[in-house]
Amino acid sequence: MFNPTTEVTPGAEMIDFRALPKIELHAHLSGSISRQCLHEVWLKKKGESAQSVVDLPDPLIEMPEGKHDYDLTTFFPLFSRYIYRLVDTKWALTYTTLSVLQDFAADGVVYLELRTTPRAMPQAALSKADYIQTILDAISQFESAQSLSHDANPSMKTNLILTIDRRNSLPEAEEVLSLTKQFFNKGVVGLDLAGDPARTEIQHLAPVFQKAKREIPGVGVTLHFGEAESSGTDDELDMLLLWGPPDRLGHVIHLSEGIKEKVIRRGGVGLELCLSCNVRAGMITGDYGDHHFQEWYKVKNCNIVLGTDDVGVFGSPLSNEYALVAEHFGLSRSEICALARQGIDVIFGGEEEKERLRRLMWHE
Ligand code: IMP
Ligand code: ZN
Repeated sequence: MFNPTTEVTPGAEMIDFRALPKIELHAHLSGSISRQCLHEVWLKKKGESAQSVVDLPDPLIEMPEGKHDYDLTTFFPLFSRYIYRLVDTKWALTYTTLSVLQDFAADGVVYLELRTTPRAMPQAALSKADYIQTILDAISQFESAQSLSHDANPSMKTNLILTIDRRNSLPEAEEVLSLTKQFFNKGVVGLDLAGDPARTEIQHLAPVFQKAKREIPGVGVTLHFGEAESSGTDDELDMLLLWGPPDRLGHVIHLSEGIKEKVIRRGGVGLELCLSCNVRAGMITGDYGDHHFQEWYKVKNCNIVLGTDDVGVFGSPLSNEYALVAEHFGLSRSEICALARQGIDVIFGGEEEKERLRRLMWHE
């Protein structure tokens, strides 16, 4: 029913990057919905003359296949202006979540941590807690269907991370924290800081992340870290390194040498690197071969985990991210397998899941 985007580039040693069991830890739910799926939602709503789509163009026209050149100024408004207006009912949330899960599983992802900003849908009488419960129900539905199917592929386990947006007020962020508490160990495993890096006033959010680690033992914390120049100042990054402290950092682009040293010295930090997103959104200077993957790959005491960020927008599935790394940095088959396994130790999903992944992920 759903067609995952395929742009798999053959690697030097003809690795089947789709079949390679992979861990995805940096994927935003609403940004991971394929255009085809958004189109299906739009068609259904049009058929029902839904008010929310009266003046909303077809997703295949608004976001034509092949258009991936969203930058940090056009990317964030896409959600409020467009995607959130399509995904504004329980049905649409369930349908799009199932589609996203199907796409990741079809791409060979065996463990997924999906993140999302809890969003009330007043017109559908859905609270933020209902929003989370709806997604968790879709995950359960997907996992039950997987366990009944005779598919030879290993099944995909999914957990949820709740996002605090940089523009949140303290009470809004505290609400996300209390939802994390409510759903912790019921499918929610962590807390994230995301949103427009142009919003630089974020100090007020610090106590929420401190409280998270104190009040929810075992919760994971991941932060978008130095994603843009505006959010890559030493002041901000020094502050973020105290939030929780964080277990994982996303993007790690605009870091001074001093901050890099601090990250490295800490040891065992998970680094969520999203090559296509960074290149296509112009977040780094240059092309794939210039990506800071090469620099962090040499650092032995951090765990690199490749991620798609927003595959619905940037169009590169996780299998393609591995193919790109093999192609541009000359990684051999065994190095690709070892890279994929680096994610195991930094998942938020617990020891049992880590053991399952250690058994099923490829060594060679
Ligand atoms: P959602 O949280 O599931 O609704 O996914 C979309 C949201 O994720 C956007 O509104 C952004 O706040 C956030 N997001 C997606 N990609 C990025 C990114 O690369 N940096 C920061 N925030 C992001
Ligand atoms: Zn992100």
